[in-house]
Amino acid sequence: MNTEITRAPRRSPPLSFYNDTVLDHYENPRNVGALEGANAVGKAENSACGDVLHLYLRIEDGTAVDASFKTFGCAAAIAAGSMLTEMVRGSTLEKIAAIRKQDVVDALGGLPPLKAHCSVLAEDAIEAALLDYRGHGEDSE
Ligand code: FES
Repeated sequence: MNTEITRAPRRSPPLSFYNDTVLDHYENPRNVGALEGANAVGKAENSACGDVLHLYLRIEDGTAVDASFKTFGCAAAIAAGSMLTEMVRGSTLEKIAAIRKQDVVDALGGLPPLKAHCSVLAEDAIEAALLDYRGHGEDSE
């Protein structure tokens, strides 16, 4: 059992409401766990539901050469975190900063309307991670 991912119990849409891409990232999340050597870490929390997402980046020469995540969240939050790490890996800081929650939703092939807000965690985690990186003077590589 993966100890870096906690599936938050709550009333949610049945898994059959999610598309195959979302289910794949939920059942087989990519890049899970704290990242050794991360020099940018962002934490995002949804105050309404209490779900939390941590994004870890290893940035070298203006590019995220590695990324991982941990979460306490619903199926959509887990899938969004997993997809987010795939989106940012190999991307420049400029491209990462431009990622919005809808980009994550689109990459997942859509989320049920009731769960679209869960992607906010991804956007907030990016912002927090980049803030953390800049707070270190962007020189902690
Ligand atoms: Fe909280 Fe999905 S219900 S992020």
